[in-house]
Amino acid sequence: MNTFTSVKQLGDLKKALEAAKYVTANPFADKALGQDKTVLLVFFNNSLRTRLSTQKAALNLGMNVMVLDVNQGAWKLETARGVVMDGDKSEHLLEAIPVMGSYADIIGVRSFARFESREDDYNEVILNQFIKYSGKPVFSMEAAIRHPLQTFADLITIEQYRQKARPKVVMTWAPHPKALPQAVPNSFAEGMSMTDFDFVIANPEGYDLAPEFTKGIRVTHNQDEALEGADFVYAKNWASYEHYGQVLSKDMNWTVTKQKMALTNDAFFLHCLPVRRNMIVSDEVIESPRSLVIPEAANRVVSAQTVLKMLLQDL
Ligand code: CP
Repeated sequence: MNTFTSVKQLGDLKKALEAAKYVTANPFADKALGQDKTVLLVFFNNSLRTRLSTQKAALNLGMNVMVLDVNQGAWKLETARGVVMDGDKSEHLLEAIPVMGSYADIIGVRSFARFESREDDYNEVILNQFIKYSGKPVFSMEAAIRHPLQTFADLITIEQYRQKARPKVVMTWAPHPKALPQAVPNSFAEGMSMTDFDFVIANPEGYDLAPEFTKGIRVTHNQDEALEGADFVYAKNWASYEHYGQVLSKDMNWTVTKQKMALTNDAFFLHCLPVRRNMIVSDEVIESPRSLVIPEAANRVVSAQTVLKMLLQDL
């Protein structure tokens, strides 16, 4: 593997989950693999879990880690070609990327959707420039339309907790005050398409995800109907794809509450975090024994370490 931008690049999911299980049981077994190798983590956006879990994963593999927060302490970067750079941006990404590539063996990039242009976001303009110009293996730490390390952690978590071969998994939209990217739900849908689970997406009208991510997946605008008999409930907000980047609804009837969870088969609750309590999910649901948000976040180390291992093995 020399890039990781989609969970589908894991290939055989059963083998990837076996590899993750090995990493969970033997976190320090591959310390020699990363010796004298440097990973550079480049953040265009804020992060808690991705920042810490990816560093921890790299340290477990014996790697050196460098972190660059592009918007704090680095030169402000121009990203578009052809711009007369007479404003506040001192450096162009097209020089910055190969320079970063010269300092690192592997590069991780976090670059969210900017909601300025659906076309630019869905073409992953920033991430693809890193792939094209860095000369080094690049992995996504959440880009404009996918968050594969999160999805891999979600798949690992479901594997650890599922009590039947074919659980019912419901991903439900829930309200949020701000416009959030579609990266997590797109990626989760992609991950579910690698399984034979009974997967349903529930979202209000106007919030259907891009057709490329929902092909063959059951989508309903009736949350209660979707939650009936669910074994896992994955809550997430996202902004509209159709009316790109817009917040069309803050309907609190979509908040995942105890009453909503009563419709399920005593489902486990999942969310990638950070989460807005009592918007997305009630206090009592997220604090309940069926909430997996902490083990799910802990599995971000396993997810990142398994992927970094694959990238190191192919250097
Ligand atoms: N879930 C996730 O990616 O969290 P951070 O934004 O804190 O990294």
